[in-house]
Amino acid sequence: MHNLDQIVQAAVVAFAATDDADVLEQIKAGYLGRNGQITELLKGLAKLPPDERRTTGAAINHAKLSVEGALSARREAIRKMALDARLAEEALDVTLPGRGQRRAGLHPVTRTLERIESLFRSIGFAVADGPEIEADFQNFTALNTPEDHPARSMHDTFYLQDESGAVAKGVLLRTHTSPIQVRYMQAHVARHAALATMPEIRVIAPGRVYRVDSDATHSPMFHQVEGLWIGEDVSFADLKGVIADFLRRFFESDDLQVRFRPSFFPFTEPSAEIDMAFMSGTHKGRWLEIAGCGMVHPNVLRHVNIDPERYLGFAFGMGPDRLTMLRYGINDLRLFFDGDLRFLRQFV
Ligand code: DAH
Repeated sequence: MHNLDQIVQAAVVAFAATDDADVLEQIKAGYLGRNGQITELLKGLAKLPPDERRTTGAAINHAKLSVEGALSARREAIRKMALDARLAEEALDVTLPGRGQRRAGLHPVTRTLERIESLFRSIGFAVADGPEIEADFQNFTALNTPEDHPARSMHDTFYLQDESGAVAKGVLLRTHTSPIQVRYMQAHVARHAALATMPEIRVIAPGRVYRVDSDATHSPMFHQVEGLWIGEDVSFADLKGVIADFLRRFFESDDLQVRFRPSFFPFTEPSAEIDMAFMSGTHKGRWLEIAGCGMVHPNVLRHVNIDPERYLGFAFGMGPDRLTMLRYGINDLRLFFDGDLRFLRQFV
């Protein structure tokens, strides 16, 4: 009988040792299967004398019941464990709030640039761009800006270093979008060299520009939109019309005034500063400078092989960051470039 207890004990321990339902059935076979230990003992009963057979038979049956009981308890435990594991894995809390995607939006300055592009496109302007690392020639020389012009100085312009750390000759971060005028005219002249009459140039060029400058209304990086219209018969009156019309459409208001204040730029003659003022609202009557402009200087045309005796036109460079500040009522330029989402989300 001692042997029987050991068999039952061993079966219980073996059942407990597995979490796997299939393995459990294999272990069971070792006890209750055709050649299992309990089965073998039952087979041996036949050889016993009748009186012993009864008591031994009862003891073996008792042991068999114990093993069967342990087996079904373990089967149930394993089934429950598997179920619990599956429930944990597939856990889904239907009471949680949804994980909605936040909507992204265009940066306010990008919106302004897109708006400017579409307004100028609607009156027949192309849109061009150019490199932000610019050559000294396009940024200054071709724009009639002499060697000793203050705009070329180290404290106004970011120059680049070569590998030795020395200032790289002839390259800089463009200080304005005006060099795109030069590049565009060079390409235009090359493209139409075979024609007796050069087709008109009508283009705007938006982009980032860089200057050594930083306060509430100046950032070392800011945006400009260059404009250029060259033809055989383009006048200052056209410039005034284009700009005034653009501003009224941009601000969706006829209630604004535009004035052209005489000024100086090396690449235009005559030159002017463009100011605008709203005629109503909180900023009523306050003049704000929004662009520089003028008739393209003959020297600039000569630099790109356009005959200034035959062709002429106007150029302007305006500040879309300023226009954005005016449009949305923002008083600090730096807000645009700090990347603070609390500010930027307001434009989504
Ligand atoms: N490039 C000038 C600046 O950055 C702005 C400007 C003035 C552009 C007059 C022009 C122009 O095209 O005609 O200050």
